[in-house]
This record gives sequence, structure tokens and C-alpha cells, in this order.
Amino acid sequence: MAASADDVAPSTASAYLDPSYWDARFGKEEHYEWFKDFSHFRHLLAPLLSPSLSVLEVGCGNSRLGEELLREGVAGGVTCVDLSPVAVQRMRDRLATQGTKGVDVVVADMLDLPFEQESFDLVIEKGTMDVLFVDSGDPWDPNPTTVDNVMKMLKCIHRVLKPEGVFVSITFGQPHFRRRFFEAPEFTWSVEYSTFGDGFHYFFYTLKKGKRSPESSSYQNTLPAAPKLNMVHEELENEDFIFLTNLD
Ligand SMILES: C[S@@+](CC[C@H](N)C(=O)[O-])C[C@H]1O[C@@H](n2cnc3c(N)ncnc32)[C@H](O)[C@@H]1O
Repeated sequence: MAASADDVAPSTASAYLDPSYWDARFGKEEHYEWFKDFSHFRHLLAPLLSPSLSVLEVGCGNSRLGEELLREGVAGGVTCVDLSPVAVQRMRDRLATQGTKGVDVVVADMLDLPFEQESFDLVIEKGTMDVLFVDSGDPWDPNPTTVDNVMKMLKCIHRVLKPEGVFVSITFGQPHFRRRFFEAPEFTWSVEYSTFGDGFHYFFYTLKKGKRSPESSSYQNTLPAAPKLNMVHEELENEDFIFLTNLD
């Protein structure tokens, strides 16, 4: 029987940082697509795809993004990783039942990715980096643990990307909260973003390795006054509310 949102939603947002929360959740839940499914951002992702790409999805959960990439013609290999062995096993079972070949599913920590450097043409994450922010404290001045972990994740992704590889981050993290991380001096990628969604806008960041312009190197981590969040609550899924609690 499919789990309802009430069966799996945590009582506090910080539970999202607890690996046992995810194992328990994935034991009950077959499919939950964080934020939006592929059809909502296909127009942004498809132009970045080509048949020969090797793709890494970080924090796949029980999303169907891996299969969507195959359907889009990606044939260079799709690897999905998650910290939760339960999520990984269930995704492997689902793919086997469907007879889907071409997606490798691996237990791995995004803070210590077990891949050779320059292994992937495209790395994608949807809602996974956001987990690191759930106990960040003041979003304008996140606590040092959050900063360390976000930088660890980004360094891992930068390392496993090929020299002209692309990192796509899908999030509701607004540019003034994300640029300080994406544009840290150690990264050679350019940073651009688009939005998608009706009412509430999700952000689709495209980071192209080796394409950083000199101007962005001088990006100062000076933050403007806090803007009003453009939230239309009816547009958000149940759990997006919980994820956003640190921005309220
Ligand atoms: C908010 S869910 C997003 C799932 C999926 N990307 C989607 O769009 O539906 C976050 C996922 O990140 C995984 N996760 C959390 N911490 C992780 C870590 N350190 N390394 C890898 N995966 C992690 C969780 O197990 C969960 O599957």
C-alpha cells in the first residue's frame, strides 16, 4: 500500500539530516518527487543532454529522474547515488522489475563521493543540497557546520566532473543564499540560473566547469537586505513547507 504524506513526513525539519529517517521513510514510500518532476523542468534540462553523456544523480531517493534521463536518450551511463541503502535497494528492485537497464544505483555519501576525478559529464541534484541547510540557523549567516558540509559536497561534485562538465542544482535556494557557495574561489564553473514553477518559483542552477568569467571571481560575499520570499503557499507540496521552515 502506498504511504501517505502523514506516514513519512518528519516532525521537525532537522530529521532530514538523520540517515535513519531516510531509511525508515524509504521502507514505506515508493515514490515521492521532491519539488517537481522532470516534466516541469524538461525545457531547461533537455538542452544540456546528449546521447554520449555520463550522468551522476546525487541523492536520488525514490525519484524517477534516472529513468527520465534514459528516455531522453542519455546512453553514456546514468549513476544514481543515495546515502540510504534502503532507497538504493528499492530503486534497484524497481529498475529490475521494469527491466530498465543503464542505471547504476550505488550507496554513497555526497560528502565523500567514491568516484575517480573527472568521471562525469553531468552531475545533477534535486533537493539534496537543501537537506544540508535544514538546520543552518540564520540563512544569511549559516552555521559553520552547514558551510563546511555544503563546501564538501560542492568540492566532491567539482572533482568528479569532467573538465567541461556541467553541474545542475534544482532547489528553492535563492541566488543570494547560493552564490556565496557556488562562486567560492576554488571552483572554475560559471553560474547561471533559471526558474520554473507557477506562483512559487524553483531555481535551476547551471554550473559549467572551466567556464568561470573573471568578473564572477570578484563576487563579494556581501548580502543585500533580505528580500521578501515570493511564496504562494498553495503551490508548494506538503513537505516543501517543512523544508522552508528555516527561511520563515
Ligand atoms: C529531499 S530528498 C530528494 C530526493 C530526490 N532527489 C528527489 O528529487 O525526489 C534528499 C535525498 O538526499 C539523500 N541524502 C541525504 N543526505 C545524503 C548524503 N550525505 N549523501 C547522499 N544522499 C543523501 C536522502 O536519502 C534523500 O534521498
